[in-house]
Amino acid sequence: MGNSPDGYDKLDFDDKLSLFSSHGRLCHVVFTQQFSRERLDGLFDLAEKARRLYTSRIGAAFLKECLPNRRTLMYFVQPSTRTFLSFQAAAAILGMSTAQVTSQQTSSEAKGESPLDSVHAFAMYHDVIVIRYPEPGFAERCALYFMEHELPKHIINGGSGMDQHPTQALLDVYTIHREFSRRGGIDGRRLLVVGDLARGRAVRSLIYLLCKYRDVKIDLASPPQLGLQDDIKEYMTKRNIVFRESASMTDFVAEADAIYMTRIQDEYEESMPAADVDYGSYCLTPDVLQKLKPNCILMHPLPRREEVPIGVDSDPRARYWEQVENGMWARVALIAHLLECDLRIQSA
Ligand code: NCD
Repeated sequence: MGNSPDGYDKLDFDDKLSLFSSHGRLCHVVFTQQFSRERLDGLFDLAEKARRLYTSRIGAAFLKECLPNRRTLMYFVQPSTRTFLSFQAAAAILGMSTAQVTSQQTSSEAKGESPLDSVHAFAMYHDVIVIRYPEPGFAERCALYFMEHELPKHIINGGSGMDQHPTQALLDVYTIHREFSRRGGIDGRRLLVVGDLARGRAVRSLIYLLCKYRDVKIDLASPPQLGLQDDIKEYMTKRNIVFRESASMTDFVAEADAIYMTRIQDEYEESMPAADVDYGSYCLTPDVLQKLKPNCILMHPLPRREEVPIGVDSDPRARYWEQVENGMWARVALIAHLLECDLRIQSA
């Protein structure tokens, strides 16, 4: 991990991305776009291997011996349940201990310390810092800071405001990959994403990753005020990804191989108001369910509200609880990759 170059801001985005890797390995996970198709396949294989090993006591003991001398810090200053707990569980599977800072009020930031100084201090005790932060760009600044200060520690973006959530996208695509691996793979599939596409970082990140696959088609259904932002649409266009948009999800449901539902992201009401939006028709009602292909899978990053009624849980196409479990294994693979015990796990 060398020094970050002067003039970082003037670099092309792809050159920026390459700074967060070294010798063919990710050092920091800041942007979803950092994952190549090859990297995704490697991480998914590793996740499968780890979860197979974990089914036996000997295998679980082997995994626990992988990183007993490494520590993870969870720096989460925005609410989280799944991301927080699944990183903790993933670290524990690999034998790492974890600590947490979940409020700027209880850290030295309350005494006027800058957030970067706080993170510098965390890095003195920890090897991996997972950051969930309300504003975009903070994980990126921390990773650059680590490079400048030659701190050989790793930043993982655990959700950066409305912008990015790379590890959620990783687990979402891992879920789709597992599902379709027995049915011809992800290439060529049609995915429908529904809901608050303007403010949902999970959906934005998922689309970045889907663009790594061949011939994937993406349908977007959202209230007109909460449509996908132009930067992602330009990203899809540049990569020749065919997409369609509508205010009505029923235009697309019958053709979908997977449907990714999202909740209204009203915690961002102040920065992007949409209080008067009618969200009622972006919901998996019995009527919608009737129109779906028999093997279309139903996904949601959770937490859910009315958009996925509890009754849908018993539908054999529901996969959102599997997503939660897959998240833990995707994060095991990611941590093992960052801390270089991936080859050891693969050859066990
Ligand atoms: C997502 C998030 O935090 O962006 N949740 C998660 O990490 N599982 C989605 C959401 O909160 O709607």
